[in-house]
Amino acid sequence: MPRVTILPAEAVCEASPGDTLLDAGHKAGVEMEAGCFNCSCGTCVVEVVTGANHLEPPSDEELDVLDAWSRDPDRFRLACAARVATGDVSIRQLD
Ligand code: FES
Repeated sequence: MPRVTILPAEAVCEASPGDTLLDAGHKAGVEMEAGCFNCSCGTCVVEVVTGANHLEPPSDEELDVLDAWSRDPDRFRLACAARVATGDVSIRQLD
C-alpha cells in the first residue's frame, strides 16, 4: 500500500490507490484545509515534496484551478483532487 507522509506534522498513513490526498490526511489524523471538496476553490492546495510521479496526473479542471492561483502543477496539487496511484508520496501543508 502506498504511504503518504504529511508535513510538517510528519503524520503517515497507508493509502489505498485512488484515495485523494484529503482522504490520506483523514487516515493520518491530520486536519487538512479544504473548502469546496470539489476541485474548484483552491483552498486545499498542498506542496508535493516527493513522489509526485506516484500521483495520478491532474485533470484539466485541477490544472485550471492551480493556474488561477499561480501554483506550478509540478510542485503543487489540490488535495481534494489529487489521487494516490502506486507509490509513496510526501506532501506539505501550506501556512
Ligand atoms: S477543497 Fe476546493 S479545490 Fe479542493
